[in-house]
Amino acid sequence: MLAERVVTAGSKPVLVPESPAHAPALERVLNRAFGPGRFAKTSERVREEGARHRLDLSRAALLGGGPIGCCRLHDVAVGDSAALLLGPLAVDPDHQHDGLGAALVAATIEAARPGGGAIIVVGAPAFFAPFGFAAIPKGRITLPGPVDPARFMWLALAEGALDQLAGAVTAPRAATRT
Ligand SMILES: CC(C)(COP(=O)(O)OP(=O)(O)OC[C@H]1O[C@@H](n2cnc3c(N)ncnc32)[C@H](O)[C@@H]1OP(=O)(O)O)[C@@H](O)C(=O)NCCC(=O)NCCS
Repeated sequence: MLAERVVTAGSKPVLVPESPAHAPALERVLNRAFGPGRFAKTSERVREEGARHRLDLSRAALLGGGPIGCCRLHDVAVGDSAALLLGPLAVDPDHQHDGLGAALVAATIEAARPGGGAIIVVGAPAFFAPFGFAAIPKGRITLPGPVDPARFMWLALAEGALDQLAGAVTAPRAATRT
C-alpha cells in the first residue's frame, strides 16, 4: 500500500489531520510547491467562492513537528449533490519524490471513505489513476473556468456515488453526499 512507504516515527514524516496551527507553514509549502501560478488554477475559483475546507478529512505531513506537505479536501456542490474537491496537494520541494504525495492522497481518501460520496480533482492522470480516479465524461461536470478534460477526474467512495453526479461545481448549498 502506498501509504506504508511513509513511516510514522523518528526522522520520517507523520500524517495527521490538518489543524489551523499548520496553516502558516503550509502556506509557505504551497507557495514553494506551486510557485506563482498557485492561485491561477480553475479549482481555486471554487475554493475562493467559499467551499468549506474539511480540516477533519485533510491530511498534513509533519517532519520534526513541522508541516512539509498537505492534501486538502473541500466540500463542494456538483449540481444539487454534495461532493469533495481534492486540492491543493503539495509536498515541499525538498521532500518530493519519496512517496509522500501518494501517501497523503491515500490517507485523505481513507479519511473520506466512511462518509461516502465522491471526490473530484483536477490533476495529473498518471498520478491519480492508481488511486482509482478516472476521467469524468466530457461536459458532465463543469468548473468555473477552463480545464483539460483528461485532468478532471472523479473517484466514487461508495457504490453508485457517481450515478447522479452532474452539473456545475460550486461552493455547497444544502447538498447531501450519497
Ligand atoms: C504532486 C506532488 C504533491 C507529488 O509529491 P511527491 O511527494 O513527489 O509524490 P510521490 O513521491 O508520492 O510521487 C512522485 C511521482 O508522482 C508522479 N507525479 C508527480 N507529479 C506529477 C505530475 N504533475 N504529472 C505526472 N506525474 C506526476 C511521478 O511519477 C513522480 O515520480 P518521480 O518521483 O519518480 O518523479 C508534488 O510534486 C508537488 O507538490 N507538486 C507541486 C504541486 C502540484 O502540482 N500538486 C498537484 C496538483 S493536483
